[in-house]
Amino acid sequence: MTASPRNETSVPLTDQLADRWSPRSFDADYVLSPDDLTALGEAARWAPSANNAQPARFIVAGRGTPTFDTIVSTLRRFNLGWAPRAAVLIVALAETARDGQPLRWAEYDLGQAVAHLTVEAQSRGLSVRQMGGFDADALRAAFALAPDLVPVVVVAVGRYDAAADVPAELRERDAAPRGRRGLDEMALILDV
Ligand SMILES: Cc1cc2nc3c(=O)[nH]c(=O)nc-3n(C[C@H](O)[C@H](O)[C@H](O)COP(=O)(O)O)c2cc1C
Repeated sequence: MTASPRNETSVPLTDQLADRWSPRSFDADYVLSPDDLTALGEAARWAPSANNAQPARFIVAGRGTPTFDTIVSTLRRFNLGWAPRAAVLIVALAETARDGQPLRWAEYDLGQAVAHLTVEAQSRGLSVRQMGGFDADALRAAFALAPDLVPVVVVAVGRYDAAADVPAELRERDAAPRGRRGLDEMALILDV
């Protein structure tokens, strides 16, 4: 679902990337189908990772479950106005060491897995908004996480609803123009 105008690009992109954005206005009644949820997992599972180490780990919770409520209890206040409306909250964790050896690219690999999940969600008419705004220590304690499991983001997945009953301020932020720095700023060197 898109409400934001297509992302402005100098050449056309594939629809899933051109239309992707991160709303806060989720339909609080929407339930993810089992197929959609499985597809998100498959998209993450087939992401590339350094040495194919696959260090991405997920805690997946549907709205209305005790696990969902536990995740919500760790969110920073600024995320509480919208995130509890998501159909699913996913804690994305990086396994940063295995058998006593550090997995140097674990967080990078996790980011790629979440990116793939996000694109698959977009192709299924779902929306994703990620959150760094949570209390990692509280989450670690709540789920008794092993020291080498690092919670990096909480991922909200659901269906965008332009008429969602969210605080007006959040609706306005969803409607505000989104932007990016120019390609020329991103390419430190372009020698082609
Ligand atoms: C690692 C990460 C942490 C984020 N943390 C939050 C957050 O705590 N709360 C929030 O509302 N959005 C959060 N966001 C969403 C970003 O603000 C959003 O992706 C960015 O503004 C670009 O907007 P777009 O995704 O619509 O293009 C986060 C995104 C990422 C990737």
